[in-house]
Amino acid sequence: MTQAQKGICAEPNLHALFLTLTVVDDDVQAIRAKLARILDLFSHFDEEYYEAMVSGVIAIGTDYWYELYPDIIPKELAPFPAMDCDDRNAPHSPGDLFIQIKADRMDICHAIGTEIIELLKPHVDLFEEIKGFRYLDGRDLTGFVEGTENPRGMHKFEVAIVGDQDPDFAGGSYIHVQRYRHNMTKWQLLPVSNQEDVIGRTKTDNVEYASDKKAAFSHTKRTALKDEKGNSIEMLRQSMPYGDMSVQGLYFVSCANSPEPFTKMLKSMIFGDEEGNYDKLLDFTSAETGGAYFAPSTSFIKQQATD
Ligand code: HEM
Repeated sequence: MTQAQKGICAEPNLHALFLTLTVVDDDVQAIRAKLARILDLFSHFDEEYYEAMVSGVIAIGTDYWYELYPDIIPKELAPFPAMDCDDRNAPHSPGDLFIQIKADRMDICHAIGTEIIELLKPHVDLFEEIKGFRYLDGRDLTGFVEGTENPRGMHKFEVAIVGDQDPDFAGGSYIHVQRYRHNMTKWQLLPVSNQEDVIGRTKTDNVEYASDKKAAFSHTKRTALKDEKGNSIEMLRQSMPYGDMSVQGLYFVSCANSPEPFTKMLKSMIFGDEEGNYDKLLDFTSAETGGAYFAPSTSFIKQQATD
């Protein structure tokens, strides 16, 4: 029985620590063993501080996957789809391992993070650490509620987790990560009604615009896509705001049973439709990092640790 990593479908938390690591040696056997120990760490903290709703995700960069587990490759494993059109970019940045730690207590995220770094220290450099936080009632720093249209209930698992289509990797998830930096000054100069047009929802009450009232450039129009059979293309977003007094933005994380939804939505945002209607949200925020990862099931990580 394969089991997905708990953090993939976890409910939103108050805090997160996102760690991006690059591997600096070729001791793959040690890394495989240590990834299994990180799963034990997550379980230990989850049991010890159950009220903090601890969860974790370990994901392997799609390039590094070929070194770490060269004999068995997820069917749809694909590099990060870097894109570039006019002044809208989705750059690819370094990242062999991505670790997402979430909890309702920042001290617990910190404690888990330091233990992970101690464990992996001889083998990795820390490329980036970002602390995510819940802002007001689940809002992005633009002031809009984020995550409303995420899949819920059992449907969430169907959307986020690989099933029978790739039996060797059932329980896994394709993860995409981008750190967006907002231009808050420019955004705040935009009248609220124009901000609402950009998102396609009202700001305070978070009411969706009627479909015929949504502008082609609105973020929700550009990302609510359908396939050729008319079925919704879906992903589960686990994004969180981050920032300090000088830099603010959204740490975007998506989980899906295929890398396709992310690639299609990003393309629709950056390149737009036939009339050139790109996602106007990108006039106010830009991606500074980007990575594609695969988060295998817990059983896969444990099995590979001992093989
Ligand atoms: C700074 C970056 C971003 C911000 C601030 C942002 C913010 C938002 C907000 C406020 C909503 C409306 C509420 C909701 O349903 O969550 C939304 C919806 C959505 N976003 Fe984003 N988003 C960002 C980037 C992205 C990216 C990169 C993707 C995909 C590649 C994406 C995919 C979606 C999807 C699928 C929806 C739901 C659309 C619908 O069905 O109505 N977002 N986002």
